[in-house]
Amino acid sequence: MSTPRRLTGGRIVVASHNKGKLREIGDLLDPFGFEAIAASMLGLPEPEETGKTFAENAQLKAHAAAMASGLPALSDDSGLCVDALGGAPGIYSARWAGEAKDFGLAMRRIHAELGGAMEGTSAHFICVLTLAWPDGHHESFEGRVDGRLTWPPRGDRGFGYDPIFVPEGYAITFGEMEPEIKHQMSHRARAFAQVLKACIA
Ligand code: IMP
Repeated sequence: MSTPRRLTGGRIVVASHNKGKLREIGDLLDPFGFEAIAASMLGLPEPEETGKTFAENAQLKAHAAAMASGLPALSDDSGLCVDALGGAPGIYSARWAGEAKDFGLAMRRIHAELGGAMEGTSAHFICVLTLAWPDGHHESFEGRVDGRLTWPPRGDRGFGYDPIFVPEGYAITFGEMEPEIKHQMSHRARAFAQVLKACIA
């Protein structure tokens, strides 16, 4: 395996239009002296997610942003995988919320597809972070957090499916959790720890 390419400070495009992800990635990058610029601030379009895996989608978003901006870009492709639903919604997590990005609707769909048998069912979040450079090189890293689903949804601190996900070892949902605690163990924080170790620290 070749040595990962390193990133040395300066400007970086965060290749996401999702406010929850932008806030969390901003928090994670904050201590490392980068100037993080959201893709929307540069007027970059949201590419269609045509990949079949989290990694493929993360790579296509990071490459699109790096090429369009001429800057290194960090993308996030993530989602909730419910074991009893064969891993759904998985890479379709955002799409289950529909055009209106209504996550109340997406959470009710999970509840309905489980026939209401939601309490305690096992699930995990996956996040692939890809760092891409304008010359076409990329590095990708995956993080995962295991937990259980709960119903009804609880908490308004997070985003997406946070109100129905209780991480292992905790009794509260990601939606009820202080952001600093979520950043200690989330799928995104675990992927970011690998980005740091391989490409930044
Ligand atoms: P995508 O990566 O743009 O396809 O979107 C991933 C979707 O997964 C988001 O819109 C969220 O609904 C969901 N998701 C990913 N990470 C989290 C998280 O940390 N909390 C709650 N939902 C998440």
